Amino acid sequence: MRPLVETKKLVRALGGDGVEPLTILHGIDLTIDDGTFVALTGASGSGKSTLLYLLGTLDRQTSGEVWLDGVEVSGLDDDDRARFRNERLGFVFQFHFLLPEFTVLENVMIPMLRRGDKPRDEVEEIAYTTLELLDLGPLWQRKPGRSPAVSSSGSRSRGRSPTTRRSSSPTNPPATSTPRTASSCSTCSPSSRAS
Ligand SMILES: Nc1ncnc2c1ncn2[C@@H]1O[C@H](COP(=O)(O)OP(=O)(O)OP(=O)(O)O)[C@@H](O)[C@H]1O
Ligand SMILES: [Mg+2]
Repeated sequence: MRPLVETKKLVRALGGDGVEPLTILHGIDLTIDDGTFVALTGASGSGKSTLLYLLGTLDRQTSGEVWLDGVEVSGLDDDDRARFRNERLGFVFQFHFLLPEFTVLENVMIPMLRRGDKPRDEVEEIAYTTLELLDLGPLWQRKPGRSPAVSSSGSRSRGRSPTTRRSSSPTNPPATSTPRTASSCSTCSPSSRAS
């Protein structure tokens, strides 16, 4: 099998500048093959989150290497790492990080708009189709911070409310039925079509 995730002698240490030195990861050599599921277990404080931040390109190692699908992400600069993250990685965080001022649909669209390689109409269709695939279509117009129905962290992570998911289904997909507000996102791609 092909390795999808690899670390080589991965070290993460903190300290210096008057802060007590602490080495959290002491040279991790890890290989995870494509198509496998892996659970990372260990005592609290043993360094699981620290390792996951490095595997997710969210933090920088002190030394060693991180390879994801054949790319040495530990050697990329910040812009290239951000691009790799946007295009190749998905995260399900313990707490949701949806933007409360945007609808569920817009939250799904924004990373694709940032990428800037598809017209806005297409992004909207992909986002809506993805929500429907996950049985979240009826929630596309909701704003995650304002809806009491989107309350548990699990449903927030998926933008879903089990109690209301069939009650507010739009009769048409959003591309033809609604005004959009994601264009007000100042960080969205300049290729975005004005609504
Ligand atoms: N920014 C930081 N500053 C100081 N210490 C830190 C920092 N980040 C992590 N640590 C320390 O590094 C160690 C590993 O932390 P980490 O969060 O990776 O553990 P964990 O295995 O994810 O724990 P848990 O199971 O509780 O989530 C802990 O001792 C933690 O206190
Ligand atoms: Mg943790």
